[in-house]
Amino acid sequence: MAQAGSREEIEPGTPPEAQETQPDVKPQLKGSPCVKFVKESKEVIVADGANLRFKALENGVDLYTFVGKMMNCGGYGQCGTCVMEVVEGMDYLSPRTEVEDRKLKRKPETYRLACQTLVHGPVSVVTKPGQ
Ligand code: FES
Repeated sequence: MAQAGSREEIEPGTPPEAQETQPDVKPQLKGSPCVKFVKESKEVIVADGANLRFKALENGVDLYTFVGKMMNCGGYGQCGTCVMEVVEGMDYLSPRTEVEDRKLKRKPETYRLACQTLVHGPVSVVTKPGQ
């Protein structure tokens, strides 16, 4: 039996069943979200919720292949040419959209369409994966 004022009496432990029902919480972010473009050796600090394609273009990152440069849809999720591979920080990106599920159905889970992806933490991406 615990003595009055002991730690056991003041802070009872959380029962295991209560721990299992707690929501899945993402790790806390440290500092501003940032994007590391691996091939370009460029790291960019971005605002929370920044669009990955916009930030790449804004910072001079060449994300399109030759065909993509000529025929990209301008960020509307129609062409599928803004593909990037996420090598770190997948949990800090917005979930895949329906458009991405359709356009990337034969690609690895780590591939994202930059125009459909919002950044919420530190991530590393490879532009034009497989080239
Ligand atoms: S720019 Fe066309 S799908 Fe992203």
